[in-house]
This record gives sequence, structure tokens and C-alpha cells, in this order.
Amino acid sequence: MAILVTGGAGYIGSQICVDLLALNKDVVIVDDLSNSTLEVVENIELISGKKVHFFQVDLKNKIELDLVFRTFRFSEVIHLAGVKSVNDSIQNPLEYYSQNILGTIILLDCMKKNNVKKIIFSSSATVYGVPEKIPIAESAKTEPINPYGLTKLAIEQLLNALANANKDLSIVILRYFNPIGAHESGLIGEKPLSKPNNLMPFITQVAMKEREYLNVFGDDYDTKDGTGVRDYIHIADLSSGHIMALNYLDDFKGCETFNLGSGTGFSVLEIINAFQRVNGIHLNYRVVEKRKGDVAVCIADIAKAALLLNWRPNKTIEDMCKDSWKIQQMQSVALAKEEGIIIEKRKYELWIPQ
Ligand code: WQD
Repeated sequence: MAILVTGGAGYIGSQICVDLLALNKDVVIVDDLSNSTLEVVENIELISGKKVHFFQVDLKNKIELDLVFRTFRFSEVIHLAGVKSVNDSIQNPLEYYSQNILGTIILLDCMKKNNVKKIIFSSSATVYGVPEKIPIAESAKTEPINPYGLTKLAIEQLLNALANANKDLSIVILRYFNPIGAHESGLIGEKPLSKPNNLMPFITQVAMKEREYLNVFGDDYDTKDGTGVRDYIHIADLSSGHIMALNYLDDFKGCETFNLGSGTGFSVLEIINAFQRVNGIHLNYRVVEKRKGDVAVCIADIAKAALLLNWRPNKTIEDMCKDSWKIQQMQSVALAKEEGIIIEKRKYELWIPQ
């Protein structure tokens, strides 16, 4: 049996694929490469020393997706594919509803037709909207304030409804807080193809001198130093949360939701200072007006994942800053080759429908 990872060539998906391969799982990636490249798939194989099956497929292409389902027998699906920029979702809500919701419906339909009953869904802390209580528990109200968060919540509601309608399904919803960091090899991590939205890619662009300074969005929030506080979680810890969720699915029926965060909050200035300290780099920044839609504080209550998934994060903010910088310094496979790591080029199964 194989595990299907949709969006497996992405920032979070690639780390999860490396961890699944390390467990000798048979991994199939479906990714449309709209926000990644084949080099990521190469690097997954380079790091793990194992092969993956890769299909460049858009989830909305029902024919191609069904072909993948009929080519393999899947025990579980880890569903990460989707578009994830809050700003973009405000400008292009139709694209967000189409990619995230329609894509998921087509995926769930393929799963049903092929009798695949276990899924882990990548949701987001944005479903909470403006939190009433910090830290935020899974039972907190969900009132997303942007189309991206609305699509994630709509999919969560669909998954809960499916679990109510079919008692044979095993569904875990994981609400990510702020994933940062990179794989320790420096070969896979966050490398947005277009203009980044998130704090850490902007920081590394300033560090690389690709950007003159970092804009700090507001310094008069009701927080320790006036800048926004978030719950940053290392991508390795986020990935291990998925492995523990897979184990949980082994003997669980129904639909359960978990926060994946570090459970601690850091302000923008604390992140800037940590990055400078750990990497010995000075970062230029300037305070500008607040970004529309930002909340002051967003920190996860992770007690439920600790209890039911037996999962705890263990990377520090220093690890996150060190690894985020390392990947920016590493070139691509070429550098890895120079370091004596050989990659066996292989033809990818780019799906060309007959
Ligand atoms: C973090 C902090 C900003 C950029 C988003 C999505 C969420 C999830 C994680 C997908 C905030 C400040 C940022 C900059 C800044 N993604 N900031 N200058 O907004 O908490 O969450 O990413 O699921 O869905 O909403 O993350 O990294 O954009 O911002 O001062 O140039 O950094 O104000 O306080 P956010 P972020």
C-alpha cells in the first residue's frame, strides 16, 4: 500500500515525504508545481536515498487524478495541495475557492471511488480569525476573516460531515500555526517562487541582500514590544505531527482536529533578534503601518495533540532561524553533488494522458 501526498513537492509536503520515506513508506506525490519545482522532488530523493513516484497533476483534473488512484493502492492520503496566501485570497477569492475547495471535493470523490478511507488534512490557524483567548484551543470559535481561512474552514466542515455520514472514515484535521525553518540538510525548505507573504522568507531575503530592509508591520500592538506575536513551529516538528497523526489513524474512526504549533509566542522583533544572534547577521528593518487583517497575538494550545497524538515539538526558535538561513545559502543539487552526494537522475512519470 502507498501513501498519497498531495502538494508533496511543497515546503511542508517535501519535509513530510522525507520523513515518510525514512519510515520505508511507499510515497506517491501529486503536485501541480504551481509553487514548487521538480528540483524539490530530486532533493527529496537525494536526502532519503529512495525513489518517489511523482505526477504533475492539478487536483481539479479528475481524469488524471483518477488515473493515479487506479495505478496505486493508497492506505492514506495526506492532503496539503492548495493555495495559501491570505493577501492573494482577498484579491482572488474565486481562485482560492476553486483550488482549495473544488480540488478537495474532486480528491475526496476519487478516494470514495477507490475505497480510500483515511485522510490527514492540512488546515490552518487562520480558521480561528481574531482569537478571544490565548492560547487558542481547538474548541475555540472559528470565524475566519479572509477567503483563505474560509476555504480551510469549509473543507473542515465537509470532512466532519463526511465522518458523520460514513462511520468507516478516519479523518484528522491539523491546524498549522506558523511553520518556519528548513530540513537540516539545507536542500528542502521554504523557497517561494513568487513574492513571499510570510515573515521568515522576507527576513532571509534581507539577509541575502535581495531586499534592502524588512518592513515591520506595526509596533503598537498590545504585546511585549508592540509587534505581532505568533506561534512559530519548526517544519520538522510540524512534519512529525503528521507521522503521529498517521499512527493515530491506524485505530481511529471519525474526524478529529488538532493544533500544531510550538505553544509559545515570539514577537517580530524577537524573531529579528534571534535570527541576527544565531546567524551573526545584521538585518535592516523599518516599522511601517499594520497589515490589514493581522491579529496581535496568535498562539496554539497544543495539549490535545500531546495527549492524543503523543506529539510534542522539540526544536527551538534558534534552530528555526539557523535552518531558515542555511537553506538560503545552499545552492541546489549542484552544490550537493560538489559535496559528494550523488543523485541518480531519473525520468519522472510526468503524467501525459493518452
Ligand atoms: C507573521 C508576523 C506579521 C511579514 C500566515 C497565514 C497563515 C499561515 C502562516 C498558512 C505577523 C509580521 C510579516 C513582514 C512583518 N499560513 N510580518 N513583516 O500572517 O501570522 O500567518 O502565515 O496556513 O494562514 O495567515 O504569518 O509570516 O505573514 O506574519 O512584520 O514582512 O510577522 O505582521 O505579526 P501570519 P506572517
